[in-house]
Formats: sequence, structure tokens, C-alpha cells
Amino acid sequence: MVRRRGDLTAPTYARRVLSIDQLAAYHRDGFVVVEEFVPPAVCEQLQARAEEIVEAFEPTEQHTVFTTDEQERASNREFLDSGAGIWCFFEAEAIGPDGRLVTDKARSINKIGHAMHDLDPVFEAFSYTRELAEIAADLGLTDPLALQSMYIFKQPHIGGEVGCHQDAPFLYTDPITVTGFWFAIEDATLDNGCLWAQPGGHLGPLRRVFQRRGDGGEGGGDLTEFVELDDTPMPRAPQDLVPLVVPAGTMVVLHGLLPHWSDVNRSAKSRHAYSLHCISASAEYPAWNWLQRPRDLPLRRLDEVARRRVSA
Ligand code: FE2
Repeated sequence: MVRRRGDLTAPTYARRVLSIDQLAAYHRDGFVVVEEFVPPAVCEQLQARAEEIVEAFEPTEQHTVFTTDEQERASNREFLDSGAGIWCFFEAEAIGPDGRLVTDKARSINKIGHAMHDLDPVFEAFSYTRELAEIAADLGLTDPLALQSMYIFKQPHIGGEVGCHQDAPFLYTDPITVTGFWFAIEDATLDNGCLWAQPGGHLGPLRRVFQRRGDGGEGGGDLTEFVELDDTPMPRAPQDLVPLVVPAGTMVVLHGLLPHWSDVNRSAKSRHAYSLHCISASAEYPAWNWLQRPRDLPLRRLDEVARRRVSA
């Protein structure tokens, strides 16, 4: 068999299905942790590819950062356009007062996003698999569209906090179907900013939604806004949450309503992760979601693309 460019050289996943207990944990807690899911060789391949993307990335003068600061997100055209592209976002602390990088580019990137699963052959091969489609179906997502991908670096010393949030406000569907598949490419520890989550928190309400406000018009202006829906407070971090300390190769599946958080990384070790968010193709996807695809880059189903890849 001739391998296509981007095919992984090792089996994509070490495990193929979730057990009954793991499915029950997901429905009870809103998340499930599956260790030894991605073989070490595949983690290494994804890491190497992410580093190549950063190496080839030519930043603009703007040095777009990614933080959970609302204004930063709201006013950023590159962030909005990244839903249909591959863009590298900087850590806030990587930019000095003069607007220049304070360290080398490879140690300055917060994440790559948000369409690498459709535009990069290595991440496409990892994301579109029958196994992941079957896991999604077992979780209730029988027609999974791959919506958003991110490679997160959580850089040593400067990896920023990601405030406690639900994913559904950013990737909204009616009904809510967004499901996150998060893969630890490196060990995630208390020191380097592992995920934390609120067990059972997915049973709580959607607090708000993040909406586009049009194109901002001439001269820009805020391009997005949060619309508050429910004043139920989010859990306090970290005291209301549990840490998900996991070794490289672990998959964590996160319900779209689950509150989760990660701390700053002040350690000397990075905490790389890849995440893929899927939605149901049969749910309504509003035009006000921040992530919009052009006609020539439509969203694709995990199962259909995986089937085509196997038979190609
Ligand atoms: Fe999230």
C-alpha cells in the first residue's frame, strides 16, 4: 500500500473504543480520561509537525496574542479569520513593552489554530479516523463534524492561564453538541498547567455565548461580544475543580458545558496538547458563531473523511 503524505507511520491510536465504565464516567462527570490512547511515536510526530508550522510561520507586526482577556479576543481580526486557517498566536508574556518578542519565536507561541485538521496533512491524518468517529458515536455524537483544532504549547515559564470556561459559548449549536477531544502530547502536571475540571459541572447551565457582531466595519471596533444567559456563577478555580494530571498519550474527552480551567505554567517544562472539537452535523450552527468557514472550506464529518482516507 502506498502511504499518502501525512499518513502516520505508527498506528494512530493505541486504543480503539471506550469501555462501558468510561462512557458512564463521561455522562456522570462531563469528562473522561483515557490513558495510553496515543502511542509515543504519534505524540512525537504531532509535536515535530507543530514545531515545523511555528518555524515556517511569519508573524505580522501585530504579534497577535491569545489570552482569555475579553477585549483581546473581541478586537482581533486574525483570531476570527483563523477559523478557516492555520495561525500561530503568541503568549501575552512573549511580547515586550516595545512590541518585540522577548524570547525566540519557538518559545513564544501560545497555540496554533483553528483549522489544522483540514489544512495540515499530519493533523488531518490524526483527526479523521474511524476510531475517533466511533468513540464520538458512542458518546452520542453520531454525525460528528470536525469544527476546530488547536495545538497548545503551554510554554515553559510564560504559558498563560486559561480562565475557567465552558466550550459551548464559543462553539455553540442548538441543541448544544460540542464535544472536545484533548490529547496530551506531553505530560500534564500540577507544575506545568494541567487541565482542571468540575466533575458533574456539565449538568449546569450555559452561562453565556460569544457572538460575532458583523465585520466591525471600517476602522474595526469590537468584532465580537459576550451575551450573558444565566448568572449561575462559574466554579472557583482551583478549589471547586479537580486536576487532571495525565501522562503524554492520554485523551481527555470534555462535554461542551463542562467548566474547565488551566493555570499558568511557571515551570521549566512545556505542556503540549492537541485538541479537536466536534459538533453534530444535524444541530443548528448559527451565523453569529465566531468560527465561520468559507464555502470552499466546508466542515467535514469524522466518519466520512476517515472512510474515504482508508479506501483511497
Ligand atoms: Fe476549553
